[in-house]
Amino acid sequence: MPTFPVPDVFPPLPASPLPLSELQREVLELKKKNDAIILAHNYQCEDIQGVADYVGDSLGLAYKAAEAKASTIVFCGVHFMAETAKIVNPSKRVLLPVLEAGCSLADSCTPEKLAAAKAINPALKVVAYINCSAAVKALSDVICTSGNACKIVERIPADQEILFVPDQNLGQWVASRTGRRMQLWPGSCYAHVQFTPSALLRAKAAHPGAPVVAHPECTEAVRELADEVCSTERMVAWAKQQTSKTLIVTTESGMIHRLRREVPDKTFVAAPTDRCSCNECRYMKMNTLQKLRDCLVNGGPEIKLEESVRAAAEIPLRRMLEWSR
Ligand code: 13P
Ligand code: SF4
Repeated sequence: MPTFPVPDVFPPLPASPLPLSELQREVLELKKKNDAIILAHNYQCEDIQGVADYVGDSLGLAYKAAEAKASTIVFCGVHFMAETAKIVNPSKRVLLPVLEAGCSLADSCTPEKLAAAKAINPALKVVAYINCSAAVKALSDVICTSGNACKIVERIPADQEILFVPDQNLGQWVASRTGRRMQLWPGSCYAHVQFTPSALLRAKAAHPGAPVVAHPECTEAVRELADEVCSTERMVAWAKQQTSKTLIVTTESGMIHRLRREVPDKTFVAAPTDRCSCNECRYMKMNTLQKLRDCLVNGGPEIKLEESVRAAAEIPLRRMLEWSR
């Protein structure tokens, strides 16, 4: 008989806020000294989320980056997110604690491959999920995130053919919700496709009656088992609305830190995969509090973009920010 991992269970946090560690206090001092703002994605580790000025999903982070006043933005997330900050706020110094923090979705769609697809059918309207490089954004008509993808796709006139890049799972979810036929790029998130129906069914059996939320990067078979499918930001609002005390969260498990802080009366269960008791993105987890501190001390690594690429990528990104208001 194979043995399967037991899902990780996170009970409510104690009422008093977690005390700051010495390293966290040093990071906050350095942040002030450097006139920096720290933006962190919901998947970042708990001690980074604890020192961030803002923790959110890709859409919220893009808005925060666009309106940032501090001279330095330290982006605790992955490379495409830090690039997005630089694209929308180019006069700022944008730092990323680990330059190698990439994304399997971004890797699946190179500008060369996208340019080749556009050359075959120049009439295609390219809707690019924000999880792509600046060079791919520069070749796209509009950007979207998991939080606004349906809204963005619905803005494209019905007679125009859409190529949705690079996440086929998100694209399929958007197509099913909007009824819009689209060509889908064959990319996927290596972390979210590790969730399986069988692993999720085991978590449901261990927590009878617990509602399930899943990220749209999960496969259709997993999404069909969920009570709600949404972006990481929307998961917070969803959790607040639930009457059940226990909720199953089918996304990268860093999300649970944010949920526990914002929805303190619930117990969260990290949906397992067939191999592990929760699921971490190896790229998101490259950032550590120590690396964040080093980045503030060293003033790097810094995001640099060729101006022609940045300016071309800004057009579809601004379009997204405007369309999703
Ligand atoms: P969100 O925009 O929903 O936070 O998703 C970003 C991401 O990379 C999910 O894997
Ligand atoms: Fe990319 Fe997946 Fe990691 Fe999100 S979780 S950053 S989509 S590899």
